[in-house]
Amino acid sequence: MQKYYVNTPIYYVNDVPHVGHLYTTLAADVLARYYRIKLGHENVLFVTGTDEHGAKVAQAAAQHNKTPQEYADEVAPVFQKAWEATNISHDYFMRTTHHEHKKIVQGILQKMYDAGHIYKGVYEGLYCVGCEKFLTEQDMVNGKCPLHPNQEPIQQKEDNYFFKLSSFGAQVKAKIESGELEVQPQSRRNEVLGRIEQGIEDISISRQGVAWGIQIPWDTSQTVYVWVEALFNYYTATKIIPGKEDFWPNQLQLMAKDIVWFHACIWPALLLAAELKLPKAIFAHGFFTINGQKMSKSLGNVIAPQELVDTYGADGARYLLLSAYTFGNDGDLALDKFTDTYNSDLANGLGNLVSRTAKLCEGLNMGERTPLEFSEKYKNRMEHYEFKEVLDDIWAKLAELDKYFNHTMPWKLKDSPEALKEALLPVVQGLVDIAAELEPFMPQTAEKMSKQFTSAAIGAVEPYFTRI
Ligand code: MSP
Repeated sequence: MQKYYVNTPIYYVNDVPHVGHLYTTLAADVLARYYRIKLGHENVLFVTGTDEHGAKVAQAAAQHNKTPQEYADEVAPVFQKAWEATNISHDYFMRTTHHEHKKIVQGILQKMYDAGHIYKGVYEGLYCVGCEKFLTEQDMVNGKCPLHPNQEPIQQKEDNYFFKLSSFGAQVKAKIESGELEVQPQSRRNEVLGRIEQGIEDISISRQGVAWGIQIPWDTSQTVYVWVEALFNYYTATKIIPGKEDFWPNQLQLMAKDIVWFHACIWPALLLAAELKLPKAIFAHGFFTINGQKMSKSLGNVIAPQELVDTYGADGARYLLLSAYTFGNDGDLALDKFTDTYNSDLANGLGNLVSRTAKLCEGLNMGERTPLEFSEKYKNRMEHYEFKEVLDDIWAKLAELDKYFNHTMPWKLKDSPEALKEALLPVVQGLVDIAAELEPFMPQTAEKMSKQFTSAAIGAVEPYFTRI
C-alpha cells in the first residue's frame, strides 16, 4: 500500500509562531488531509515540530533569564496551541530535545565518522546567529547578512569537525537531475543545480563554543551543528513514533525558499553518507509580504495565527491564506482585503447558498446521498500543490450552483413539494460534492456541510460565517 509521509520544517523556538510558520504548516495539513482520504488514515504520517538547540535559542533564553531547556519548554507548547487553534492535524509534534532524537543523531554521526566522512579541521569565518550559518562572500551585502542586517556577523575561529560535502555533490546532482529526488518548483531546482555546479566545499558540522546542543559522541567538547541534527528530525521521528518506522523515506518536505539549500543539497548528502534513503520530493514555496512589506518585528506587522483565527475563525483563516496567491510563488497577504474576501466568498458566497438551500429543504424528504468521487482534475491539482486553483475551481462551482438556483427560483415552488425537491436536488448534490473537496482546506465547514446535506431531512442551521 502506498504511504505518504509529509514534513514541515521544524521551527526555531527563539520566538513564538507567526503566520509564516502557519502558511507552510497549513499547506502540509491540506496535503495530509487529502492523502488520508485517498490512502486511508493509517497510510499517512504528518510531522511538524520545533528546532530547539543552537546559539539562537540559547541567546533568546538568556534574554528571558531562562535556561534554554526551560525556554524551549515554554515556547514549544505555544506552537502546539497555534496548531490546535488552526486545526492542524499533525500526527506527531517533534522536538529536537527529545532524548531519543539525541541518541539516534549521535549514532548516525558516529557511523559517518567511522566511515571517514567526517574529519577535524579549523573553521575561520563569519557566522550569522539569526540564520545559524556561516556566511560566504556571496551571502553578504555590505559585510552583513541581508536577512539579519541588525545583527553583526560574528568572526569565529575554532576547531570543528567537517563533513565531506564536496564528495557528495556529484551524487546529489545526479539524483536531482534524474528526478529520483524531486526539487520543486523548477526555479528552485535550477538554483540548487547551478550552485552545485559552481563547486561545493565541505561544511563544518560541529561547534566548540555552543554548549546548547547534542554532544559529538567521540569528542564531548563539541556539539552538533544545529542544522545538521535538525534535518535528521525527519528521519528520527519515524524511529520515535511507535510503529512508523516503515514511513521512511518521506514523500515530501515542505518549506519556504529560504532554507532550500540545506534541504536540497546538504540534507541528501548527509543521508547518502549515513546510508539512509533520500526523501522523494522537496517543495519550496515563496515568501509573502504583509500589505506589501516584509514581515518584521521592527515594522510591528508580525501576525500570530491566533489573531487571524479570532477574526475569521479557523476555517476562514485557512481559506484566506491559501486563496491569497498561487502556492509556490512569492506573494502578498493584503490583510486590508481579507475582510472583503471573507464577506464575499464565505459569508455571502458559500454561507448564503448553504442557508438558502437548507431553508427550502426544510420539511421535505430529500433522500440520502454521498459525494461523487474526486475528479481527475481535482486530484491532479491537489497532487501538484495547486491549492489556490482548487479553491478557485470550487468557488466557480458555487457560482454555477448559485446561478442555477437563481434561474430555477425554487422558492416559487413551495406549493409543490415534488417539484421543489427536484429543483433543489442538483444544488444539494453539488454542496455535498463541494463539502468533500473542501475537507482538506476547511475541515469544520466541510463536516457541517456534509452532515447537513447528505441526510434525508435537511434542516436550516445557524449561518456558518457571520458577516464582519
Ligand atoms: N529551524 C529552521 C528549519 C529547520 S528544518 C530541519 C528554520 N526555522 S524558522 O523558524 O526560521 O522557519 C523558517 C520557515 O518558516 C520557512 O522555511 C517557511 O516555512 C516559514 N516562513 C517564515 N516566514 C515566512 C514568510 N514570510 N513567507 C512564507 N513562509 C515563511 O528555518
